[in-house]
Amino acid sequence: MKIGILGGTGRMGQGLARGYAAVGHEVFLGSRSPGRAADIASELAGGVSGGSLAEAAEFGELVVLAVPFGDAVSTVEPLRDALDGKIVVDITNPFGAVPPGQVAGIEHNCQAAPSARWVAAYKTTFWKTLDDAGGSDSQSLDVFVCSQDDEAKAVVMELITATGFRAIDCGGFENARTLDVMVPLMIELDGRLRADARSSWKFLG
Ligand SMILES: NC(=O)c1ccc[n+]([C@@H]2O[C@H](COP(=O)([O-])OP(=O)(O)OC[C@H]3O[C@@H](n4cnc5c(N)ncnc54)[C@H](OP(=O)(O)O)[C@@H]3O)[C@@H](O)[C@H]2O)c1
Repeated sequence: MKIGILGGTGRMGQGLARGYAAVGHEVFLGSRSPGRAADIASELAGGVSGGSLAEAAEFGELVVLAVPFGDAVSTVEPLRDALDGKIVVDITNPFGAVPPGQVAGIEHNCQAAPSARWVAAYKTTFWKTLDDAGGSDSQSLDVFVCSQDDEAKAVVMELITATGFRAIDCGGFENARTLDVMVPLMIELDGRLRADARSSWKFLG
């Protein structure tokens, strides 16, 4: 599959790109600095290229939104036509920028490209764990996934599973509100109990 990553030069973007490329996907890192994205891509595994945000949106059959939450809408709006009908994987964490527990970040962001197929994922996946989906105790880490579009969600869950994580279907956007508020608590607990940004929520069931 062809995967574009908006914010592909970042910690999450690069980590996801490595994982996707390792299982045979073609990845394009999109950036406000296309030359820098191309340079970073050339240092990653084969199958990764880089350029502008618009090129990433055009390239991807599936597009990951990996910019800061506060820049998500302004990043997506100019790409609305390119994203029409495509799966957009929103990994952005709002950290209280929308009413916590009442509105999910994805419910806010999806207004910027309503004709895309929005899926929330990786919200509770620390960037440092992206190269270590098996976890420290050989138990696959969980990636929680929410969408109103069951087919799009299934595609994203298959992609997540292929990269070694366990994908958990968490239903629709109403449950993404809960994922959003799990993130600050995960960061607080990690700081108190581990302090290495390698923590993860795990559903035992
Ligand atoms: N860090 C984590 O462990 C983690 C875990 C789960 C989810 N997330 C979420 O994933 C997203 C990315 O996090 P990250 O840690 O990868 O951040 P990061 O390392 O700071 O990378 C963010 C990328 O977004 C781009 N960017 C920055 N400001 C922008 C703007 N004003 N407009 C458009 N693009 C901009 C930058 O790319 P260019 O400068 O090349 O354009 C940058 O490479 C965030 O929404 C975060 O909440 C992070």
